[in-house]
Amino acid sequence: MSFARQLDAVDKLREYRKQFYFPKVEGKQVIYFTGNSLGLQPRRTQQFVDEIMKDWRELAVEGHFYADKPWWDYHERLAEPLAKVVGAKPREISVMNTLTVNLHLLMVSFYRPDKKRYKILCEEKAFPSDQYMLQSQLKFHGIDPDEALVEVKKRDGEHYWRTEDIIAKIEELGDSLALVLIGGVNYYNGQVFEMEAITAAGKKAGAFVGWDLAHAVGNVELQLHDWGVDFASWCSYKYMNSGPGNASGVFIREQYLNRKDIPRFEGWWGTRKESRFLMKPTFEPMATADAWQLSNAPILSLAPYLASLEMFEEVGMKAIIEKRNKIVAYLEFILHEIDKQVESRFEIITPKERGCQLSVFLHGEGRPLFDYLMKAGVIVDWREPNVIRLAPAPLYCSYEDMYQFGQILKAGIERDT
Ligand SMILES: Cc1ncc(COP(=O)(O)O)c(C=O)c1O
Repeated sequence: MSFARQLDAVDKLREYRKQFYFPKVEGKQVIYFTGNSLGLQPRRTQQFVDEIMKDWRELAVEGHFYADKPWWDYHERLAEPLAKVVGAKPREISVMNTLTVNLHLLMVSFYRPDKKRYKILCEEKAFPSDQYMLQSQLKFHGIDPDEALVEVKKRDGEHYWRTEDIIAKIEELGDSLALVLIGGVNYYNGQVFEMEAITAAGKKAGAFVGWDLAHAVGNVELQLHDWGVDFASWCSYKYMNSGPGNASGVFIREQYLNRKDIPRFEGWWGTRKESRFLMKPTFEPMATADAWQLSNAPILSLAPYLASLEMFEEVGMKAIIEKRNKIVAYLEFILHEIDKQVESRFEIITPKERGCQLSVFLHGEGRPLFDYLMKAGVIVDWREPNVIRLAPAPLYCSYEDMYQFGQILKAGIERDT
């Protein structure tokens, strides 16, 4: 315990922990491991939301132009800080809609199958919404998903994907491959895919390459522009701490902006803002990824996202990643120590290419242990057959949390022996 406290005392991000609200179980602040599902609420968020409520109350429609942060181009404020988080140019970023909706919209631009090139490559057991999205897109184009959706499998007995297997599959599909779309960090095993190498291989084969970055944004280093990624999208409610179901970000590579041969679905918020209210019959696209915007932006959703981005701007991804590496290594150490002391066996199925999630197979344990942890104030998540996912978000988790978790886990396993 004293070691954990020492680590906390020298943690450069320790002040940020105080800037979040933690739920309580029986009056005690929880240990929160589910930032990979829903990030905690930053204290400053309320003020950003209140500001909108006040402007709406006091200015009503005039808020579009005369609010402190006018609403007509409010979304543009998010592009610059978000570009830093994902390694992009601000003009390659837009915030709009929600993740699955955006993936569908991006498919309009980047999945244009023809007789020869129509296959889509993704990872085996991709997040279900991505599977449904891809299957329904294929069906929309009159293509049989069983034939055209190619999943890269893990090898027998292994819990992770090998980059060489993904690249080999891309090369095998060659000029039948239209699109590679993979989750940058896998939601189940926490694996970080080698996005740069996979992007290069997909593009070499002549396909478009896109990434679902739901579990990657705010968690791992991203250099979308330099890696040559064509497009990407992510949600903001996990490591970005912007609130349940909140708005999604998109990245569209600079070379596709302003291109007449790239189709997209359009709406009035994608038109040049200078002439947007002239209500012209023809679409004049913004020169940025905002050309993909459809509706007037949901300001009450963007406000928490902006609050969170302010925090990311202050801290920077470098410091987040530095702490992430240390805290996850400490959690791993604790799991190994407890493993030696109890009869059950833990198998960490997350490979060394990881962000802040460790997925742990609990051999010899079942759902009752999960229930025990939840009752004891450890918020984790359970996936069939018996995997718990532990994701200590560096902005608000402490080393002492890791230590306490170890003690609770051990007590939970020993409870009926
Ligand atoms: C990897 C991944 N993709 C897609 C989604 C779906 O996101 P949304 O419900 O915001 O469309 C999620 C949600 O958790 C996810 O984790």
